[in-house]
Amino acid sequence: MIHHDSAHRLWVLSGPSSSYVLHLDDGDRPRVLHWGPRLTPEQAASLLLLPQPPFRPVEDTAEGTLDLTAAGGLRYGQAGLQVRFADGTRDLELVLTGQRRTDRELVLAYADRHYPLAVECHYRIHEDGDVIERHLVLRNEGEPVTVVRADSATWVLPRLGGYRLSSVRGQWGAETRLHRTELPYGETVLTSRRGVTGHQANPWVMVDDGTAGEEHGAVHSCALAWSGSWRLTAQRLPTERVTLSAGAGHDPVTWELGTGEELVTPVCAGLYTEGGFGAASRAWHDHQLRHVLPHPEETRPVLYNSWEATGFDVSLEGQLRLAGQAARMGVELFVVDDGWFGARTHDAAGLGDWHPNPDRFPDGLGPLIDRVHELGMRFGLWVEPEMVNPDSDLYRAHPDWVIHRPHRARTEHRNQLVLDLSRPEVAGWLYRTLDELLSKNDIDFLKWDMNRPFTEAGPDERLWLGHVHTLYDVLDRLRAAHPHVRVESCGSGGGRVDLGILRRTDQVWTSDNTDALDRLEIQHGFSQLYPARVMGAWVTDSPNPYTGREIPLDFRFHVAMAGVLAIGGALTEWSEAEVARAAELVTAYKEIRPLVQHGRQYRLLPPDGELSAVQYLAPDGGEAAVLVFRRARRFGHAEPGIRLRALDPDARYRDRSTGRIHHGAVLLAHGLFPGLAPGDYASALIHLVRE
Ligand code: DGJ
Repeated sequence: MIHHDSAHRLWVLSGPSSSYVLHLDDGDRPRVLHWGPRLTPEQAASLLLLPQPPFRPVEDTAEGTLDLTAAGGLRYGQAGLQVRFADGTRDLELVLTGQRRTDRELVLAYADRHYPLAVECHYRIHEDGDVIERHLVLRNEGEPVTVVRADSATWVLPRLGGYRLSSVRGQWGAETRLHRTELPYGETVLTSRRGVTGHQANPWVMVDDGTAGEEHGAVHSCALAWSGSWRLTAQRLPTERVTLSAGAGHDPVTWELGTGEELVTPVCAGLYTEGGFGAASRAWHDHQLRHVLPHPEETRPVLYNSWEATGFDVSLEGQLRLAGQAARMGVELFVVDDGWFGARTHDAAGLGDWHPNPDRFPDGLGPLIDRVHELGMRFGLWVEPEMVNPDSDLYRAHPDWVIHRPHRARTEHRNQLVLDLSRPEVAGWLYRTLDELLSKNDIDFLKWDMNRPFTEAGPDERLWLGHVHTLYDVLDRLRAAHPHVRVESCGSGGGRVDLGILRRTDQVWTSDNTDALDRLEIQHGFSQLYPARVMGAWVTDSPNPYTGREIPLDFRFHVAMAGVLAIGGALTEWSEAEVARAAELVTAYKEIRPLVQHGRQYRLLPPDGELSAVQYLAPDGGEAAVLVFRRARRFGHAEPGIRLRALDPDARYRDRSTGRIHHGAVLLAHGLFPGLAPGDYASALIHLVRE
């Protein structure tokens, strides 16, 4: 619900449990009076009577309270909106020119006092959650304007007793590691300068007062829906005001806004929750399941992927053998990874030539696809269509299609270059090529990879933004033309996971690191913002090819069951006993899958202790699945009960494997004792059904 109080120049945006209150001050600047628990309009208006900050010479007292932080005047803090007019002027003086409002959407329209530049702030809320989605629209009717920075939103936090920042850091093979630290004074910038979301950071943060826990405390958070370079600035002023400001682009990339042109920024979403980090995560998960994913109601199938089994050594016979084994285990979607096309027998050739390798697939992909379908599985194919190897027919025909600068080397990474998707002819080729691939072959699923960041892109703004716009556009058009096709976003592992790509893909590849122990941490960080419903997780061979660690099959499966279960091992080398056990575990996953993929997630114990555990509760509360992991046993240590969450204390729950009855109140107060086998890497899946 959005309420406007014209007498007080107030807007109150309320979700079921929170409100965001904006007040337009005498200078037409939107000041945030409140972002916290839900308030009535009358209560919101009373905020105007609260004491104001004292006058400070040579400072703007609005510093740190504005939700549109246009550069100019006496403001010296972080500015989310910065432009340079044709005459060199950098100060913006915005006045409100109008508003448009429905129950769920608000647009505040501003214009510069002198220059013909219009700025619209868009706000959107949903009736079933507290996420507020915001973006800006800039329209220029004057001489060309340089947009130096256009953050989609600046979020103003209330004064708290302290400020702690939660985010994820990472690298290839070690993505989404949760990091919590006191927010320092000054400006803390999380960013990607790579042209892609990146492994090193992910565009979201959470802020609490330093006392929140997994299940208690207030948390403010925001996330940017953008898959290119980005920048998120958490500012802590000496006056103890904190703002979070996020948008597309990075220093020193700017955009030229020509006469009559418009810039629409991506969405930056914000959320206030109580109930700790767990509640914040669940609210973000709900939001994505209801309002971001293209087919939220669907259940993701159990997938097999050939990459770790075959690498580039792809053949029809080899893939058929793997498909036969996968089908025996209950796999529902068989995905052929890299190595099926062009001259792609290694990573130095073939990217760009998206037709089946004639030596490997003399009759095309048809025979393999038909057999996979006969086996009762859907068929998926890996592509990396934004890239080209210099050793490819595409590059030989169009060497100028890659991102490059005159007089500069073309830096290769993994022997490949990035196609310049901002060029219309390249964008056209990209769509036609994939449309033809999907039209000629009965493909159900694409794994869309992106293995290298930009280089030599320069400050060419069309390219940094244009690449992502073309990517989104091609994905949208392909999905419309081939509505049965589902897509997995991959960025050399988890390098392209964000709310922007999730609007047009169905799941993501979380990390190339498939070591089950490392995965516990990666998945813990991933789950802070993103739901299990999109988190691809493979069971691979032991010892793990990346870490060399040997981990039992059950443990590997249980870890992967915490998301979208998949298998990625060399199945033809698995023993009959392993195949049989894998089939049992796949069956067990399918039983809990509705809970994992559509239920609510409770992180019971984090992955850094001896025991860790995660619980999924069915949307109607009638069933719970608990995955428990012991990394290493300490002698003589009595393991505590694992206290479950959100059960009905008065209900009885039956363990589906043992038949044992548990009381909800006891599970909540004393916990579950899963009876793990002795030793290291013990794990269990407990599936409880309400009696
Ligand atoms: C990187 C991906 O993350 C892997 O899963 C695999 O698809 C390789 N690329 C193939 O080149």
